[in-house]
Amino acid sequence: MSRTYNSLIDLVGNTPLVELKGFEKNNSLKANIYGKLEYFNPTGSVKDRIAARMILDAENEGLIHPGDTIIDNTSGNTGISLAALGVPRGYKVVIAIEAGVSPERHQIMRAYGAELHELVDIPGLAEAASAPDATFQSLLAPMAKYASENGYYYINQCDNASNIKAHYEGTAPEIYEALDGKVDIFITMSGTGGTLHGVGRYLKEKNPDVQIILAQPDAASLPAPGKTEPQIDGIMMVSGVPEGLAPIFYKKYGFNFDEVITVTGAQAYEVGREVAKSDGVFIGESSAAALTVAKIVASRPENSGKNIVVMMADGGAKYLSSGMFKQVQE
Ligand SMILES: Cc1ncc(COP(=O)(O)O)c(C=O)c1O
Repeated sequence: MSRTYNSLIDLVGNTPLVELKGFEKNNSLKANIYGKLEYFNPTGSVKDRIAARMILDAENEGLIHPGDTIIDNTSGNTGISLAALGVPRGYKVVIAIEAGVSPERHQIMRAYGAELHELVDIPGLAEAASAPDATFQSLLAPMAKYASENGYYYINQCDNASNIKAHYEGTAPEIYEALDGKVDIFITMSGTGGTLHGVGRYLKEKNPDVQIILAQPDAASLPAPGKTEPQIDGIMMVSGVPEGLAPIFYKKYGFNFDEVITVTGAQAYEVGREVAKSDGVFIGESSAAALTVAKIVASRPENSGKNIVVMMADGGAKYLSSGMFKQVQE
């Protein structure tokens, strides 16, 4: 049935779960792999969910009002979502952008009218980052200070409960209901950890036997300016980092996964290119990392016949100039 919508915010979520049958067949996999295609969100990524939830919750709590300025630090997708969804709600958006983010993302945020700064240019941030006892919180303290000095609302996706809530109340029930509760394994990647904590908690409450598996990049595949090897944009290492530098949600709520599997950028790129051809599913680098893990997990004989759900956080178009699809010919 066709209908109209009041604003882009009403279009967030309810993304499709699609079985990747071509990929399963090509790799002779006996498990069923379902991609949760978050690029169906209004700005093309999973981050629309948290941007909408964080803005609406802050409005409901009286923390922001139309005309205010919202600021956050991001590797791009959250900035794009805040910039776009802030427009119909009447907010100005300032983004402190992490290093190594693709030029497309900068352009998209500017197109929505956002003001961009390099994260390292936030006063005090470079010093905080080089402090020997730096923690995730101490790294973000200069952001909070900068926001308050300028009268901005620091929405802070890394420590905002509405981030996890968006996944617990949205992403997770969508997955669970689409498969009539028959979810055996959930695979995600991690930036803030919001997806993992929100979806993971919901699925475990429904079925304690569900396995939650985290895909993480190896250190060499973390984005940094000037790097030439394949990078996986938008996500972080979770295991093997100094304890203080673990993302805030992990410190607060624990490391709630059953297994972590590390993949390289090169592995992820191969899989990302493969699934575009096998299923017409055009995904970003972090989704390709998660699908690489799905391929490993689906190959295990004990997982034959099981339903594996893989988060696909965004689409491939934002990586045309910088990563996975740059070298694709013909
Ligand atoms: C491309 C991409 N994939 C995955 C994630 C991970 O999402 P989360 O912050 O929920 O851990 C992010 C964001 O951090 C992202 O930008």
